[in-house]
Amino acid sequence: MAFRLFLSFALLTFNTGFSAEISVFVQTEASVKLDIQTQQLSEFDLFYWMNNKSEEIVRYINGTKQVRFHTFFENRLDFSAKTFSLTLKSMQKTDSGLYTARASADSDINIVTYRVSVIDAVKTPVLIVNSNRSSPDSCSFTCNGSNSIISSIYNSSSCSREEVTSSDNHTLRLSCSGDSIICNYSNPVSWKTDTETVNELCTVNQDTSPFR
Ligand SMILES: *[C@@H]1O[C@H](CO)[C@@H](O)[C@H](O)[C@H]1NC(C)=O
Ligand SMILES: *[C@@H]1O[C@H](CO)[C@@H](O)[C@H](O)[C@H]1NC(C)=O
Ligand SMILES: *[C@@H]1O[C@H](CO)[C@@H](O)[C@H](O)[C@H]1NC(C)=O
Ligand SMILES: *[C@@H]1O[C@H](CO)[C@@H](O)[C@H](O)[C@H]1NC(C)=O
Ligand SMILES: *[C@@H]1O[C@H](CO)[C@@H](O)[C@H](O)[C@H]1NC(C)=O
Ligand SMILES: *[C@@H]1O[C@H](CO)[C@@H](O)[C@H](O)[C@H]1NC(C)=O
Ligand SMILES: *[C@@H]1O[C@H](CO)[C@@H](O)[C@H](O)[C@H]1NC(C)=O
Repeated sequence: MAFRLFLSFALLTFNTGFSAEISVFVQTEASVKLDIQTQQLSEFDLFYWMNNKSEEIVRYINGTKQVRFHTFFENRLDFSAKTFSLTLKSMQKTDSGLYTARASADSDINIVTYRVSVIDAVKTPVLIVNSNRSSPDSCSFTCNGSNSIISSIYNSSSCSREEVTSSDNHTLRLSCSGDSIICNYSNPVSWKTDTETVNELCTVNQDTSPFR
């Protein structure tokens, strides 16, 4: 018995050190389904999903087909005893972290590990066009996407495409199409745009733009 305990501990450490993580982004309040990424599992007595605080979220005992849930996810989770997938609902930022599926028979094995990041949807960016009287066929414009700001010049119905990606995976992209300037702000879970209509002289058309 003592030997078996030691063996599982050693394998546990080994497996934790070498398993690859799958990165998943989830929008706040949305659900995420975590699959075991394999069709067949070798025989096991016990299957469980745990988080990086070493809390067992769900435990499935093969012998009795019994499923037990940890209370902290309350009724925010679904577990399939057929596919062993775990669905977490109404995700909050504090639910971010590692989720690992493990099975144990003679020893514990890691089946899959997910790094779940719960992030908010982006806020709508703000596009501001500055017409330039000394150079009437071009104008500069700026788009502010909360954590990054980007500028370009609209010139004879075109502009150079500009794009910046911040270290936290938010992308701000400026482009022009005909008489529209489009600013697209996105992150791995969402995107929002602000669009301005400009006329040939690149002054913002106050009467027809629905954004002013
Ligand atoms: C579950 O238990 C049954 C009977 O003990 C066994 O035949 C089966 O292979 C087990 N399933 C898994 C996935 O280990
Ligand atoms: C679990 O992971 C999250 C996100 O990576 C981190 O903020 C938290 O500190 C980790 N908790 C433990 C106990 O390692
Ligand atoms: C207006 O255009 C002129 C000539 O192209 C340029 O030198 C000036 O910096 C521009 N001003 C603004 C506010 O964009
Ligand atoms: C950009 O937007 C953020 C918040 O949306 C604001 O705090 C910041 O002052 C803005 N920056 C500029 C240069 O307008
Ligand atoms: C506008 O475009 C014309 C033709 O492509 C170019 O010659 C001119 O330098 C551009 N002006 C600005 C301000 O980019
Ligand atoms: C950005 O995304 C990559 C992969 O999509 C991920 O590995 C990285 O951790 C993310 N960075 C942040 C700050 O979330
Ligand atoms: C905005 O950017 C996102 C992410 O790149 C893309 O999926 C979406 O189609 C873009 N929307 C528009 C209107 O260009």
